[in-house]
Amino acid sequence: MTSPDTPATAANSAKSMDDIVALCRRRGFIWQSSEIYGGINGFWDYGPLGAELKRNLKDAWWHDIIRCPPKGPDGDMISMVPVDCTIIMNPKVWIASGHVAGFNDPMMDDRDTQRRYRADQLFVFFPTNVQTRHDTFGIAVEAVNLQEAEQRWDDLHKTGAIEHIYKLASKQFGFNPDEPMGIAGDSGDQLTAEQQSRTFGPNHEHPGDWVVGTKLTAEQRDRTIAPSAKKFGTLMAARQFNLMYQTYNGPIQSDENKVYLRPETAQGIFCNFKNVLDTSRVKVPFGIAQVGKAFRNEVTPRNFTFRSREFEQMEIEFFIRPDAAKEWYAWWRDARYAWWQAVGLAGENLQLREHDRDELAHYAKDGAGTSDIEYRFPFTSPGFGELEGVAHRTDFDLRQHAEHSGLGDKLKYFDQERNERYFPHVIEPSAGADRGTLALLCEAYTPDATRPSGVYMKFTPRMAPIKAAVFPLVNKDGMPEVAEKLYLDLRQKWAVQFDVKQTIGKRYARMDEAGTPYCFTVDGDTLKDQTVTVRHRDTQQQERIALDKVSAFLAEKLA
Ligand code: GAP
Repeated sequence: MTSPDTPATAANSAKSMDDIVALCRRRGFIWQSSEIYGGINGFWDYGPLGAELKRNLKDAWWHDIIRCPPKGPDGDMISMVPVDCTIIMNPKVWIASGHVAGFNDPMMDDRDTQRRYRADQLFVFFPTNVQTRHDTFGIAVEAVNLQEAEQRWDDLHKTGAIEHIYKLASKQFGFNPDEPMGIAGDSGDQLTAEQQSRTFGPNHEHPGDWVVGTKLTAEQRDRTIAPSAKKFGTLMAARQFNLMYQTYNGPIQSDENKVYLRPETAQGIFCNFKNVLDTSRVKVPFGIAQVGKAFRNEVTPRNFTFRSREFEQMEIEFFIRPDAAKEWYAWWRDARYAWWQAVGLAGENLQLREHDRDELAHYAKDGAGTSDIEYRFPFTSPGFGELEGVAHRTDFDLRQHAEHSGLGDKLKYFDQERNERYFPHVIEPSAGADRGTLALLCEAYTPDATRPSGVYMKFTPRMAPIKAAVFPLVNKDGMPEVAEKLYLDLRQKWAVQFDVKQTIGKRYARMDEAGTPYCFTVDGDTLKDQTVTVRHRDTQQQERIALDKVSAFLAEKLA
């Protein structure tokens, strides 16, 4: 499902991720963690602008989900309550949830380059020899999906790397690099339909025959070259790797004291289900929500903050009667999609994707469905990357905790209206605060050659890190005093900046890169007629408004 395009939606495929990362660094949105020591892979810090931006996103979620949730499918108010649980929990939690046994990624090491890959993110193409009709050897590229893999495959041709690989193949397997390697031509006409589908097109389209790393046989691995490797056959067999970080509780580093950093915030919610029931006046249907850090020792952190090892989640576990799952699942899916649109991802870069049956997590197999709300990041374009998953988790987690904690039926909910005791089912909308922030940054990034900055950040006013800037035109003649008074007043309500340095043009340029929607300038006329100029970020238009109306103006614009 996509919504109509809006002018705010510049094509993300045309945006350069390198430029976005450079702006984030230069303007203090996001930096590498511990940068002065060379950084650490998969960890990121938010600078002054980034911290405000991410906070705005989390505050909007908290406000719109916990304090003022939308009305439910029947038009009734819904109950939502927050919790704030610890990162380290009793390790039995993660046995019950299935994370100790099953929170694994398949990993493949390459002996030649010493690089490590997620085996499900290695795509191995097997060119077809047009003359012998046989697959020859495998060429592996690293990508999150087939679309990206095809791009990497094209890159191999564009950069000439493929010729180098053919030369290596000729040395290792006696392959003749001048052979018509799967390029469709006259001889291609003689191929069967099946062979044609496995054959390169004239523009080096991939041959249609590929295998994902997890499915490579040992024989295929021996004939495959890993990315940047200098010979074939150096990839090792895929191994399962548990993503949970481990540490020890207390001074003794023994197995009994082993604990985990939580890989999701959801389990803290399930563990407190009974506490919430016993202490609040909630009745099914109701939700418990939490925002907090999660940690995953990702095999290949990549794409800026998209796949980090430390990140923040915004999760809801919404408890319902089992027979109401279908209705609530569809309602939450659509409500969450509408929310992402409302915070500024309103164009074609946002989509809702229902999972195929074979993609469903084990706990969701018997459920009403799972869908992802996805954003077209510049690095996934033309494909999409997940921002939030909405899943019907059935009663899997509560049943598991009932069994493993020994609480059994005490963890059931007593439905007074029905005079019935049951494990409620759960709809879980689980969003990433860092991925959301990254999507806001990518969406806002708007190159504009007419501006001195060459770019501006078109955040919705609600998300903008700085809502307004106040400038005295010059740092004398009574202007700084008036501007400072205005600034001190506005900052009581909003994130506002005061800037007296450099020319007014340079100050506008700084605010354009920060994405500040309004700049107020106190000038010579202000002292005469008590008006200021307001400059609108998107149009660069200026108008004069009364000094004593600035606060009301901003309140209306930011409402
Ligand atoms: N409780 C369900 C759960 O954790 P998930 O799909 O694994 O589901 C939910 O994670 C969200 O958390 C994702 O949609 C994504 O936004 C965010 N997320 C997951 N892994 C991440 C990572 N390594 N880096 C940044 N965000 C991540």
